[in-house]
Amino acid sequence: MKILVVGSGGREHAIVWKLSQSKKVEKIFCAPGNGGIKEIAELVDIKSDDVQRLLDFAKKNKIDLTVVGPEAPLVKGIVDIFGKNGLKAFGPFKDVAMLEGSKVFSKNVMKKFGLATADFRVFDNPEDAKKYLKETGVPIVIKADGLAAGKGVIIPKTIEEGLKAIDSIMVERVFGDSGDKIIIEDCLEGEEASLLVFTDGKTIVPLESSQDHKRIFDNDKGPNTGGMGAYSPAPVVTKGILEDVVKSVFRPMIDGLRKEGKVYKGVLYAGLMMTEDGPMVLEFNVRFGDPETQAILPKLKSDLADIMMACVEGTLDKIDVKWEKSSCISVVCASKGYPDEYEKDKEIFGLKEAGKMKDVIVFHAGTKAKNGKILTSGGRVLGVTSLGKDIKSAKINAYKAVDCIKFEGMQYRKDIGDKAIK
Ligand code: AMP
Ligand code: GLY
Repeated sequence: MKILVVGSGGREHAIVWKLSQSKKVEKIFCAPGNGGIKEIAELVDIKSDDVQRLLDFAKKNKIDLTVVGPEAPLVKGIVDIFGKNGLKAFGPFKDVAMLEGSKVFSKNVMKKFGLATADFRVFDNPEDAKKYLKETGVPIVIKADGLAAGKGVIIPKTIEEGLKAIDSIMVERVFGDSGDKIIIEDCLEGEEASLLVFTDGKTIVPLESSQDHKRIFDNDKGPNTGGMGAYSPAPVVTKGILEDVVKSVFRPMIDGLRKEGKVYKGVLYAGLMMTEDGPMVLEFNVRFGDPETQAILPKLKSDLADIMMACVEGTLDKIDVKWEKSSCISVVCASKGYPDEYEKDKEIFGLKEAGKMKDVIVFHAGTKAKNGKILTSGGRVLGVTSLGKDIKSAKINAYKAVDCIKFEGMQYRKDIGDKAIK
């Protein structure tokens, strides 16, 4: 099988790494990839949302399966376009990719299918939104409708801060058209967890649970990021909760969509808040999480290529998806300045030493290979990952590996996994 993986982050490195272990996979291309992926796949210099050039490449190279990492090409309809050209792609069609592409669409679907989620209101003009905010006060959550690179959710501390957020989204339009509409919803309290499932539109197979760490600093302080580390499994998602979420969240969603003629294929990600009233859905993503994937896929025993092909072909019921009993943790090493403007082009040292350690895998995110060196090229640079018999031993080993690695301005959280250990 010839595979094309689309994307360039730590998530895509983990996907390529796992696919490369399949006996059925003879060749992997990755567009555009990164310095670490280059070691195990052939990089293709096409941006991940340049759907036309990706299609031309896949046709010319007779790609058997294209695996789409990030949301932007999915929301653009890459799976539909590949399908029309007789090519298989792992990921949802455009009509259901809107579960991530539009928070208004997503909340309305959740409401229609009776999923537990925060009460919300939709606004298409700033005056009404501001009036509502002044009436309700804080705490409250303000969300831009469309894609905003993970920055579209604001939880203001004061009404003034909230009014400013409405202006910046709807008037200054910092996220462009994504701010045509906003959602204002109730603020939920509890511990967060991510639960992802594989599905072919009928069969639903949960992946192991995980927890992301969204804030930049230890103890969940500082601004939100794309995610500073993850661990799996997440003890807050007990076996009972997992079964409950499959039954009360994923089942009604997948079945409800199918009954409307919208078959969801690929991976579906629910961001959950474990509230006193049970798990509630914060958001859906229509792709693998990043950095959750780096902590989940090392535990997958089964052949990922088989699973993905079965999702595309509607035969997931034939596949036995097995997991290692171990725990896994992935610590993100980021560039100085991230999540704001960050430094680039710093040489990274110690990758070989860390990579040689038992149970350790160093997934690259924002890196590039140049003149035999690996340089930083993004905000999140590496996901230093370790397996272990439990989260505690995985954590100790992952941080030993982090200690081997150095680049100027490197920052990372020291508390990844602590919630699970407690
Ligand atoms: P989202 O992109 O919708 O997942 O939101 C990003 C982050 O904002 C989530 O991971 C939560 O930490 C927070 N968040 C979103 N919605 C809510 C809510 N209704 N209540 C509290 N926190 C929320
Ligand atoms: N880790 C959060 C996300 O992938 O959206």
